[in-house]
Amino acid sequence: MEPIDLRNPDVLRHTVPDLQPMQAFLEHPLIFDRAEGVHLWDVDGTHYYDGLSGVFVVAVGHRNRRVIDALTAQMERLSFSPPLHGTNTQAVRLSALLASLAPGDLNVVKLLTSGSEATETAMKLARQYWKQAGAPTEYRVISRYYGYHGATMGAMAASGTPRRRVPFEPLPTGFVHIPTVHCYRCPFSREYPACDVFCAEYLRQVIALEGPETVAAVIMEPIGNTGGILVPPPEYLPRLREICDALDVLLIFDEMITGMGRTGRMFAAETYGVTPDILCLGKGLSSGYAPLAATIWSDRIQEAFLGPADAGLEFGDAHTFSGHPLAATTGLACIAEILERDLLAHARALGERLETRLLAMGERYGVFGEVRGAGLLWGVELARDPTSKAAFPDDVAMGHRIGREAQRRGLILRHDPHWLAMAPPLVTTPDELDAMCDILEQSVAWALDEL
Ligand SMILES: Cc1ncc(COP(=O)(O)O)c(C=O)c1O
Repeated sequence: MEPIDLRNPDVLRHTVPDLQPMQAFLEHPLIFDRAEGVHLWDVDGTHYYDGLSGVFVVAVGHRNRRVIDALTAQMERLSFSPPLHGTNTQAVRLSALLASLAPGDLNVVKLLTSGSEATETAMKLARQYWKQAGAPTEYRVISRYYGYHGATMGAMAASGTPRRRVPFEPLPTGFVHIPTVHCYRCPFSREYPACDVFCAEYLRQVIALEGPETVAAVIMEPIGNTGGILVPPPEYLPRLREICDALDVLLIFDEMITGMGRTGRMFAAETYGVTPDILCLGKGLSSGYAPLAATIWSDRIQEAFLGPADAGLEFGDAHTFSGHPLAATTGLACIAEILERDLLAHARALGERLETRLLAMGERYGVFGEVRGAGLLWGVELARDPTSKAAFPDDVAMGHRIGREAQRRGLILRHDPHWLAMAPPLVTTPDELDAMCDILEQSVAWALDEL
C-alpha cells in the first residue's frame, strides 16, 4: 500500500466521520489503528480503554480468536450466496440459534446488516402484517421522545430527538411520539412510585386518541440510551405489554444496545420479563466483526405470511446483504463466545462492581445526580446539586468536559452535556474495569478543579 499522511487535512477531507463537526475532525482526527481485548491504539500509538465497546458493539472484545478463526474459515468456503434464489448454511444456523435463544414464540428471524435496517424492517413488517391480518387501516407507529432507532428515513421518523430529525424533514408520516420514562426528570413532573407509572399509562390515552384501528405498533428501547441510560421501573414494560395486548397493537423492542448480554441476560426482554412481538438486534450480535443485525418476530405474526406457495405472501423487504454468510458466521461465533464463557454472569458481576465504583465517585465528588443501569450498561446523570437535582448550566457542558478529559487520559466514554455512559466489553476483567474507573475518577476531579 502507498504510504499515506494520516494527519494531512488534504487527505482527511475525503473522509466523513459520524456525528462530528467536519472541521473538528480535520483539526483533531482520532484515527484508530489496532485493538486487542478492551484496548485500542491510534495511529500515533496512543492507548485507549474501550469503555463503550466501540459504540455498544464489541461485546466479545477486539481481536477475538474464535471469531477471527471462524470468519477466516468461512471466507475460504462461501463469502456470498444469491439472496433472491435461496440462502446459505450460516444464515440458517444463526436464525435457528436466535430463535432458540429469544423468549416466547419469537421464532422467525430476518438477518440484516444494520440497526437502522432492523428497526425499519420491524415497522414495515408491522404494517404488512396488519394488512394481511385483516386490519389494513393500522399503520401508525408510536415511539418515544429521546428514542433513537437509526439513521434511515423511517427509523429517523420513529426517533425522538430534534437534532437527529429536523435537518432531514419532512420525514415519512404516520409516526406519533410520546414522552419517555425518565424517573429522575419526569416529563409529567410526577414522582415514582406514587405516579403509578403514568408515563406507561399515557400510551393508552394516545392510542385511544389516535384511534386504535389506526395504530400498528409501538417501538422502544427497553433501556433508552439518549438521555443518559434511561432505566424503566419494573412495572413500566409489563404495563406497556398489557396496554398493547388490550388494544391489539404490536410491541417492538429495539434491543440494538440492550441485546446480546449487555444487561446481564441475553436480551433485556428477559431482564424485564416482557416478551415483545418483534425484537430488533444489531451491534453486539456480531461484536463489529461484520455488519450484522436481526429482526425477530413471533409465530403469530408469521402466520399472516404462511399460505399456499402461489398466494404471493412474501415479506416485501429485501436487502442485498441480508443473511450474509460472513456476517452470520460472526453472529454464531459471538453467541458461542457469550454462552461458553458465561459472559452473561460475568456481565452481571462486573456490572455490580461498576455500579459500586460509580456510586462511590458520586459520594466523593457530589455531582452525580443519578447512577442507573443494568449489567454492563451504566449511565451517570450529572447534577450541580444532587439534592435539588439542579443541573449544571448548559454552557458548562460538564459531561463533555469529563468525557473529553477521559479521552485525553485514555478512556473512551459516551458523553453528552448532562450525562455520561459506560458500557465496556463483556470480556473486561475486574482489573481492566478498575483502570477505566480510575481514569473516569481522575477526569471528574480534573473537571471540577477546572470549573
Ligand atoms: C437503539 C438503537 N437503534 C438503532 C440504531 C441504529 O443502528 P445502526 O447505526 O447500526 O443503523 C442504533 C444505533 O446507535 C441504536 O442505538
